[in-house]
Amino acid sequence: MAVIEQIIAGNWKMNLTLTQGQGFIDTLLTRLKGKELSRKLLLAPNFTLLSALAQRCAGSGIGLVAQNCAFQAAGAFTGETSVAMLKDVGAEYVLVGHSERRQIFGERDDLLRQKVNAVVSGGLIPIFCVGESLDQRQGGEAFDVVISQLRCGLAELPDSQLIVAYEPVWAIGTGRTATPEDARSMHLHIREFLVSQFSWGERVPILYGGSAKPENAAELLAQPEVNGLLVGGASLNPESFLQIAMA
Ligand code: 13P
Repeated sequence: MAVIEQIIAGNWKMNLTLTQGQGFIDTLLTRLKGKELSRKLLLAPNFTLLSALAQRCAGSGIGLVAQNCAFQAAGAFTGETSVAMLKDVGAEYVLVGHSERRQIFGERDDLLRQKVNAVVSGGLIPIFCVGESLDQRQGGEAFDVVISQLRCGLAELPDSQLIVAYEPVWAIGTGRTATPEDARSMHLHIREFLVSQFSWGERVPILYGGSAKPENAAELLAQPEVNGLLVGGASLNPESFLQIAMA
């Protein structure tokens, strides 16, 4: 099995203003002084914070993630933000297919495939999110749903860097976390799919997301199949984000 550096990624969603985000980074960098973290840290703030946070994080090793992007490269698309624009202000990664984009904004598999392709051709790294709903899990469809999301979203992916995030919809923002065993078996399934599709499938980090917090991070991260966490609510506070990063 390839050795994969664990990743702790914070998704701030539509939270934290510029001032709050800068305060977060200042606290985080102060707390990190003199510490050797064995995990890579990523943060996904709102677009409006990217430029300022990129300057503050320069040289720290903390990577910045955009929460979304346009599938087009440029043009008359009012309200959209291209991958080139995100790269220009310091983003290195883009979340694609987060369940909130799928559910609230109706983003479907073919659109997400185009977004993945836009991210890769724009020179950034996609963090492709997948996950089943509660109904789908209870109906025994969880594996099929997740593999179908991967199959569609990654259908045209060239040889590139990629991160996958497994976020069961029923665990997002609910306080209900997948058991380490649930996470483990889904991650194994995802790994098998990636290895079957890509010669580099062994090296793709697979993150778990869904009510990850300081209290459950160590247990989840102890699963060899879990290569890191995508954290929502608990990433809004630098202390709890750091507790997870050091769990
Ligand atoms: P919570 O950690 O708040 O459940 O959110 C998870 C998530 O959606 C991260 O992208």
